[in-house]
Amino acid sequence: MTKELTTLTPLAEDVFEGLQADNKYLPSKYFYDARGDELFQQIMHLEEYYLTRKELEIFQTHKQAILEAINGAEPFRIIELGAGDGLKTKVLLKHFMEAKVDFTYTPVDISGNVLEILKSNLKAEIPGLKIEPYEGDYFDALAEIAESPEKDIVFFLGSNVGNFSEKEAVGFLTKLQEFLKEGDLLFMGVDLKKDPAIILNAYNDEHGVTREFNLNLLDRINVELEANFDRNQFLHYPYYNPHTGECRSYLISKVEQAVTIMDEEIHFNAWEAIFMEISKKYDQKQLKELATAAGFIPQKTFFDSDNWFADLLWLKEK
Ligand code: AVI
Repeated sequence: MTKELTTLTPLAEDVFEGLQADNKYLPSKYFYDARGDELFQQIMHLEEYYLTRKELEIFQTHKQAILEAINGAEPFRIIELGAGDGLKTKVLLKHFMEAKVDFTYTPVDISGNVLEILKSNLKAEIPGLKIEPYEGDYFDALAEIAESPEKDIVFFLGSNVGNFSEKEAVGFLTKLQEFLKEGDLLFMGVDLKKDPAIILNAYNDEHGVTREFNLNLLDRINVELEANFDRNQFLHYPYYNPHTGECRSYLISKVEQAVTIMDEEIHFNAWEAIFMEISKKYDQKQLKELATAAGFIPQKTFFDSDNWFADLLWLKEK
């Protein structure tokens, strides 16, 4: 019997849909409750998790070239989707201010709390910065903001696009592109294909923080949906496919078991997997195809010194 979906919260609806599918899955967007945010902060400081370091290096090395590439017309607005703690973006914002560029910074996040902290930190660290946060959904923000006559540059950093499958990424970026005006830009951070061992390690750290990050979603479901997952009965298994560039994380049931969620039983066979997250890595050919499919024209690419990570500047087509 499948759970009646109409009266459920979005989390409950998605959890039942995912766990009642033939190949079980849970959407990784639900990783980010308070504990998940904390764990992701820890991940970004892990030795194995090179992504944050590499993007920071790109900003530190190429900040002037990035400014020259984005600054066609002042004043402009930077709209950052999923701003987080602003650690990396700060490097660029500081540089733009020192260069006396006229711009406004609009971080977008669904958490008002995250935005408040970010705003007070940035105000203290970068005097004079014009910051106008937007609390809410990315596309609501774009619908409201991107209409204004000034040039918009949308920042989508940190390889967040990698958490979409290629098909989902095309859908997301096409929709984003449709909200932009001619001449607006997308500045997007993507993780690149490289030695598979380096990629796999980034999602299989020796301290088990990434494992905890995945298991935390089971804990969240226990608390928010009256469930009884026993996290000790699940194994964390990340897997990288060098052909597709997809790094996928699974939680695998070590035994045959039944889990109850809101009075509904979900059955697991021994060694049955829940697909938890995709972190896709791109090569240049795939990126070119992605830009074309989503209606953008690639302008410039900035790399770190190892060519592990890239920040791409794409122009909205007419
Ligand atoms: C947020 N996102 C880009 C991270 C990634 O690399 O896919 C989330 C993450 N998952 C495990 N470690 C980090």
